[in-house]
Amino acid sequence: MCGIIGITKGSGPDDGVQSVLDVLVEGLARLEYRGYDSAGLAMVGPTAADGMWRVRAANGTRSLDDLTKRTDDAPTHPSAGIGHTRWATHGRPNEDNAHPHADCTGRLALVHNGIIENHIELSDELIADGHHLESETDTEVLAHLIEAHLAAAPAEGVVGAVRSALSRVRGAFALAVVHADDPDAIVAARRVSPLIMGVNEGAAFLASDIPAILGLTHDFFILDDDRIAELRPGAISVTDLEGNPVEPEPLHVDWDLDAARKDGYDDFMSKEVHEQPKAVADTLLDRVLPDGTLVLDEVHITNEEFRSITKVFVVACGSSYHAGLMAKYAIEHWARLPVEIDIASEFRYRNPVVDEQTLIIGVSQSGETVDTFQAIREAKSLGAKVLVISNVVDSSMAREADAVLYTRAGPEIGVASTKTHLAQITALEILALYLAQARGTLSPADARGLLTAMGSLPDKVETAVSRSVDVHAVAEHYKDSPSFIFLGRHVGYPVALEGALKLKEISYLRAEGFPAGELKHGPIALVEPGTVVVGVATRTPVWEKMIANIAEVKSRGASIVLVANDGDEETARHADHVLWVPATEHLFAPIIDVVPLQLFAYSLARLHGLDVDRPRNLAKTVTVE
Ligand code: G6P
Repeated sequence: MCGIIGITKGSGPDDGVQSVLDVLVEGLARLEYRGYDSAGLAMVGPTAADGMWRVRAANGTRSLDDLTKRTDDAPTHPSAGIGHTRWATHGRPNEDNAHPHADCTGRLALVHNGIIENHIELSDELIADGHHLESETDTEVLAHLIEAHLAAAPAEGVVGAVRSALSRVRGAFALAVVHADDPDAIVAARRVSPLIMGVNEGAAFLASDIPAILGLTHDFFILDDDRIAELRPGAISVTDLEGNPVEPEPLHVDWDLDAARKDGYDDFMSKEVHEQPKAVADTLLDRVLPDGTLVLDEVHITNEEFRSITKVFVVACGSSYHAGLMAKYAIEHWARLPVEIDIASEFRYRNPVVDEQTLIIGVSQSGETVDTFQAIREAKSLGAKVLVISNVVDSSMAREADAVLYTRAGPEIGVASTKTHLAQITALEILALYLAQARGTLSPADARGLLTAMGSLPDKVETAVSRSVDVHAVAEHYKDSPSFIFLGRHVGYPVALEGALKLKEISYLRAEGFPAGELKHGPIALVEPGTVVVGVATRTPVWEKMIANIAEVKSRGASIVLVANDGDEETARHADHVLWVPATEHLFAPIIDVVPLQLFAYSLARLHGLDVDRPRNLAKTVTVE
């Protein structure tokens, strides 16, 4: 939520390849998935009369384009610069509220991701001291606080002023500051909100996320909580809040730049949907051996500890929550452990019953979602074992956990999760079987059979993805429908929820998912002639009941679209249109069955002429509560 970027190259000769401006604009484009209500950048150093130069635009997804058209008066060879792409929390998305924010001298600029909780109290103080604040944001107080501390102790420099200012601040932040009086430096600090840094011979970089500075360096570092970093060309030094030097933690990055590009696809979402077979295959790789046994080297919880577990909580948000819901069926069925699944923001504040025999599974693509992060922290402090499923190596959640099971989907840029969702379900299914193996609740022969079936999942996902043209043809029939009901039972229920979420996220159509058995307790009142009902009707032990529920809505005039297994004409008879998928073991079915629903949402969004990668009001990584 909000993306920040910074680069310092110093005032040496510009190599003309990676100018400060180019790095900032390219980085902001790659960070836009974190929010795109407005964008802005600031640069210092030679020359523009060697002051602080700043430009901001608040024109939604066109903000960055607008910025680049307004750089005529920018410094010709800036030494350092910072940029920001915003997802508005405090203050409307207009230019005044766009970052970077400046101090009263106009020589300091600051970008921030997070929320300053005591900003009202601080701004009252600052205004009483004569500062002039221009925006409605919580961020601007930081610029003025730093200004005040710099004026009080100029010898301590910007780093000292940031340190003193932070002693007054409550909340979450990843921030970066440039100052025209020290134009080679960027000062950064972090608490909760993510911040990574990179360095090469002649420059240093920072960003909210890895893709923003991929290709600029191979040496990445994490800035930990309550640390302040000073970045200068070719060097990064880190201190704690008391000013003691700290070694920055190196970050292992195995993504390459190509993975963060569209590669000829119209948008990231379709590229990422087409990468799903690989995401599933890579997540299985080396974990399921050819002889059908399961190896999870990176899970540092012993089998003895797994055997002592009496209860599992899954905490997650959005599509990750739906992946967790799918896992509930698998873990309960195979590992015979009770599983509670919770929206992370609810788990945190309801005093959950958690102890040393509880396993908490945090599911998060980014590993940075603040609610999930704080939920696992809370659980850990209560003594629970914490296992995280994350797509980002060394993410905040991965580092907080006792064990990590990485999904290997590569960077996902489209705001609506697709390939990481499939990889999460895959990882959770692997974990369910691993738990069953460790606890002895599944016979070796049954486990082998299931693991062999898992091996065919990438090909089946490939088949489902290859039918995008057929799904598009079905979507065309419903182009003018204003609302959709998604139904499923058993593992088809979370698939229905995810289908509805995808549709509302990217096409802005009303879409609700329900367990089909619950239909008669309310949702059926929504059904009238022409209502579109999308049902997940692949073969599960409750298929007959699902078909009976479909008959109930059909008899009330609904138009029926069913996800059905290839060749299942019996199911097709109940549908106006069918989205065909290959069959698989029913607890694995969500991995396949969700694919046509992703494609259905994608097609409808495109038919409505919408930007699928940057849906309105959303951000990919939600780092505010
Ligand atoms: C946002 C994204 C969703 C994602 C959710 C959880 O809402 O738009 O696509 O599922 O956050 O994100 P996480 O990184 O924790 O999986």
